[in-house]
Amino acid sequence: MTDYGMALLWVLILASLGLSILAVLLSISRQRRSHSLTVASTAGEDVASEATRKVLREFEKNGQSPDAALVNWSPDTLRKILADDLPDAQVIVVSNREPYIHNIKDDGVELLVPASGLVSALEPITRACSGTWIAYGGGSADRLTVDSNDRVQVPPDNPSYTLRRVWLSDDEYQGYYLGFANEGLWPLCHIAFTRPVFRASDWEAYEAVNRKFADTVVAEARNERPIVLVQDYHFALLPRMIRERLPEAIIITFWHIPWPNSEVFSICPWRERVLDGLLGSSIIGFHTQFHANNFTESVDRFLESRIERADAAISYGGRATLVHAYPISIEWPAELLAKLPPVEESRARLRERFGLSADVKLCVGVERLDYTKGILDRFHALDELFTRHPEWIGKVVFLQIAAPSRGTLPAYQQLHDECLRYANELNQRYGHDGYKPVVMVAEHHSQQQVYEIYRAADICMVTSLHDGMNLVAKEFVAARDDEQGVLLLSTFAGASRELLEALIVNPYDAAMMGQVLLQALTMSPDEQRERMRPMREIVRDNNVFRWAGSMLLDAARLRKRGDLERATSVAERPANTDTNIVSLFDRMRKVAS
Ligand code: F6P
Repeated sequence: MTDYGMALLWVLILASLGLSILAVLLSISRQRRSHSLTVASTAGEDVASEATRKVLREFEKNGQSPDAALVNWSPDTLRKILADDLPDAQVIVVSNREPYIHNIKDDGVELLVPASGLVSALEPITRACSGTWIAYGGGSADRLTVDSNDRVQVPPDNPSYTLRRVWLSDDEYQGYYLGFANEGLWPLCHIAFTRPVFRASDWEAYEAVNRKFADTVVAEARNERPIVLVQDYHFALLPRMIRERLPEAIIITFWHIPWPNSEVFSICPWRERVLDGLLGSSIIGFHTQFHANNFTESVDRFLESRIERADAAISYGGRATLVHAYPISIEWPAELLAKLPPVEESRARLRERFGLSADVKLCVGVERLDYTKGILDRFHALDELFTRHPEWIGKVVFLQIAAPSRGTLPAYQQLHDECLRYANELNQRYGHDGYKPVVMVAEHHSQQQVYEIYRAADICMVTSLHDGMNLVAKEFVAARDDEQGVLLLSTFAGASRELLEALIVNPYDAAMMGQVLLQALTMSPDEQRERMRPMREIVRDNNVFRWAGSMLLDAARLRKRGDLERATSVAERPANTDTNIVSLFDRMRKVAS
């Protein structure tokens, strides 16, 4: 036999050995899972037996499955995935915004839960996993409330995970957060026609702060193989920095905002570095497939890489990264609903607080005061309604709750001033005898207060000019257990892909929004119920535990493949491909053909 023939024979022997081991491991894992599911169903847990088995098989076969909605996703489901599929894995969450902020007030220390979709999504997950959450400590009393390792146990009334705070200097905060993240990447990724600003000094601060967080992740990791959940555009460089120090970590990065097309992305002077940093991740998640595709296109255009479209993977620098859509959601059932009064009482209380008469229709908007949210466009819609249907003057009030945000940046100051000016103008033009059509409250509200506002409203307006998902839309639906209320939802928010029964609007079209507002104001209770019910089912089934569970199941699959890879390919493995799933696919294909 020739040398070539011998080599081929060895490759075939090794490959078939690999496949046999794969088959044995999969069958053991199935037996284990089927056993644990039997135990679960006998114990009467919320994981439905037959349906769950089917769904988990689908997960094993194809990655995220649309049938996953058959599982009743809950904190228990997450804990089960961690125990069965990722035993001993430590979950570390990294975000800029911390879930609990301590501030000094006149009468002591005040605890604040920030108005952030990211926080409301990640908090129940971290609680369920008893993880460690690393975040910037920005509160004036944050340093006073940590231990000597900069840690504090939270939630304060029922501690279930560790918050590790990272301190930033004023210059770091200015350059990394206000500068590169919020004047550069934020407008770059949103189509809101605000020009991004890129400064070299901001980039340097961004890099330095990402390194500081990487040091903290390494310091908090209890072993070489944690699962690190990196959150958002504040940390594009962090996955690569962690990968260099903890090569065996599973790094799941979730990009909470849209990803632009490659032409827009090319504006960023450090575009290759941003992409390279993100590709240190094992998995990169986006809210929609559209944004995942935009990311893949950007990589294809600017980096030497191989795109494996069928596997939704990018092979770059000897490693593979999965790029998937995982639509984020909220906790279901929302824990705080139990603390709230019935809808009728919420309505009465809110009307009393703002001096509104009982028969006035209440329309609400709730968000950070941000130019991507289309707040001024709502005012235009109201203006349109009053112009074309003056009979509604005096019968409808629009309440805008706008949590102050990034207030030192010129674009935000300008928006704040413009909102106040337009609100005053509308109140002067249409107000009379104590009636003001627009009430604007530019203050932070707690989640409980926000839910009470949702319950008191007749209409909720979510009119983002561009938004990754928008959790306000889902929260409004979750808050309405009376199945009443109308949701106006921008077609440019990711949530419009799921909440199909909302009244979908184009916020740039004021005339159309005015018409739809009229439709909402005159909608019968029966139609409201017919629309609200299926939306509630969607939010219940696609809740935040499903979002996190899907990523964790994908992570478990990657880990198994990586382990298998190590076990089977020592002889033929090039250096630095420990978890290179694409090379495994390649070999399987070779053997099959
Ligand atoms: O939408 C992007 C995002 O980072 C969210 O994840 C979060 O809810 C919000 O912006 C918070 O912004 P900030 O922390 O700058 O107030």
